[in-house]
Amino acid sequence: MDAARIEEVVGEFVSLKKRGVNLIGLCPFHNEKTPSFNVSAVRGIFKCFGCGKGGNAVSFLMEHEHYTYPEALRYLARKYGIEIEEEKPSPEQQQVMDEKESLFNLSAFAQKYFQQQLHESEEGKAVGLTYLKERGFSLEVIRKFGLGYCPNAWDGFTQAAIRQGYKKDYLLKSSLSKSKDHILYDSFRGRIIFPIHNLSGRILGFGGRIMTREEKRPKYINSAESEIYHKSKALYGIYFAKSAMAARDNCYLMEGYTDVISLHQSGIENVIATSGTALSPDQLRLIRRYTGNVTLLFDGDPAGIKAAFRGIDIILEEGLMVRIVLFPDGEDPDSYARKHRPAELRAFVEEQAKDFISFKTSLLLEDSQDDPIKKASLIKEIARTIALIPEPIARTLYVQKCSEMMQVEEKLLLAEINRVRRDKYRRQQQQGGSSADKPADQPEAPGGGQATPQPKTGPGNNDAQEKELIRLLLHYAEHEMSFEVENEDKRMEEVKVKVVEFILQDILADKLLFDNSLCQQIFDTFAEQWQEQSVPQASRFTEHADAGVRQLAIDLLANQHSLSKNWEHRHRIYVIGEEEDLKPRVMHAVYAFKLKKLEQMIAESQQAIRDASADSSPDDSRLLELMKNNRDLLSKRSLFATALNRVVTK
Ligand code: CTP
Ligand code: MN
Repeated sequence: MDAARIEEVVGEFVSLKKRGVNLIGLCPFHNEKTPSFNVSAVRGIFKCFGCGKGGNAVSFLMEHEHYTYPEALRYLARKYGIEIEEEKPSPEQQQVMDEKESLFNLSAFAQKYFQQQLHESEEGKAVGLTYLKERGFSLEVIRKFGLGYCPNAWDGFTQAAIRQGYKKDYLLKSSLSKSKDHILYDSFRGRIIFPIHNLSGRILGFGGRIMTREEKRPKYINSAESEIYHKSKALYGIYFAKSAMAARDNCYLMEGYTDVISLHQSGIENVIATSGTALSPDQLRLIRRYTGNVTLLFDGDPAGIKAAFRGIDIILEEGLMVRIVLFPDGEDPDSYARKHRPAELRAFVEEQAKDFISFKTSLLLEDSQDDPIKKASLIKEIARTIALIPEPIARTLYVQKCSEMMQVEEKLLLAEINRVRRDKYRRQQQQGGSSADKPADQPEAPGGGQATPQPKTGPGNNDAQEKELIRLLLHYAEHEMSFEVENEDKRMEEVKVKVVEFILQDILADKLLFDNSLCQQIFDTFAEQWQEQSVPQASRFTEHADAGVRQLAIDLLANQHSLSKNWEHRHRIYVIGEEEDLKPRVMHAVYAFKLKKLEQMIAESQQAIRDASADSSPDDSRLLELMKNNRDLLSKRSLFATALNRVVTK
């Protein structure tokens, strides 16, 4: 836990930018277009203010990579070069390992097997490696992408896997093997193997390109969907492209495995491919973690153009920017890259990249130049695409651009776009609304441990006040506040009081308890430790055994600023530097907490009065006592209200 730097761990999967003392990025746990995902390097925690998910480095890995707790620790150990002594799993443990892990292990084994076959077996070298080298792939890039070869024998791989103890069940589930009359054989026989990695470099599945020419077998086959491989959620090459995507704030999206490898070799590293499937919203979510810009690189043939058109719509709909480069008919990015020098290739993709309006107009306008009816339908088509863009400012900019290019009034375009959007909205309403942008469910507490049930919030509940007090303790326990007091010589003197001291004394003196038991637990820990004049470290709570305490502490530590929007507002103190203005905040928090408590007591005492007077034979002396008590409470309340007001108006 000490070695793990949260910003480095999260940074493997999310592109983070510095924002003040924290880092900020797009939340990987829900669909969002503006960043609300915060990482605090100092506190070792992350927190998304959009969906509420939060935690430390370990819980991040568990959530994001679906690791178990030990897997997350293993990952961190590997990352930071810490050795863990582990026993080889026993057959029983092997059985307990969940299906996903088994499939991941099998995929890793298969990748190593195929790679070894490519580089070391006679057939692999003669058929596979020769072919790849002839295509111009360097050994370096062949190794980097982990390419391999599956011999054209019946079951060489399957047998090797079984010898290593991999179960037939998983060989079939991963579709690495197929079965005929209960006999297993290799799915990828006689093919070059392209491993498909996830974001953290684990292998999800494979693509295989045929090497034999004799049969009518398909040129490419791919792993079938499995527990670990979902075609619509994987992007070929993203593991090798992600940092370049973030650095260049753009990515090149293509169709083929070979396109990715070729461009990578030419020095363009922000390259990924859909590999034979239509682009999906899930894939765009993956991209959006690193960049909001996509450039499509497609063949200039009719199929490529059709694919580009589909791609444009879905990219815009997901709120990303899109540009398009078409390669000359008959060329794909790979073949072009092979025929040109890297600098020429780079110049080509940069100069040819068109925004979608220019792209569509240049393609569609060619044969409708002087035909008003065709031109009108082209304008409609472009308006339909612009209408997909969720962001109003971007929409307006494209309207201006289209208006210029097509020489049509903006007003007309806007009317058309609004009509399309209204229709779409109506359709969504009828279907019960779209599922996009809906906030995720309440976060689950990660990291095991039972969570103490949280009280419901609502009127008459002190939750906000209680949490604010705990928040101030967690953030500022040792900050000093200065007070002017009169000393024995009737002179004013400045004394310094720590926040923790002030809060503890005030609450303990009145023997007040928190309604929220999680707050009480944290408060008690502070009280205990303060007896030794020290304060507990944040990690004592963020790594607490109780998942509820952990979650609350993380939430409050992530909240740098007051939980009370109302207070911020009245004071016109907007989010900057609350530690500079700590004293009124702390006093306000204490008074507000006490005031809430008083109100509770008043409500209780008034109920007691009502109950007592409803009695058939009222006890007058008891009633009088209750009423006196009530008056005391009321006058205390006005005292507090004044005190609170003083703090507020000072
Ligand atoms: N593809 C597939 N199944 C096929 C054909 C293609 O899954 N039967 C996918 C592969 O991911 C392939 C991509 O679509 O990489 C593009 O297909 P294509 O252009 O035909 O192949 P190239 O990548 O150009 O391969 P090569 O240059 O080796 O012919
Ligand atoms: Mn090709």
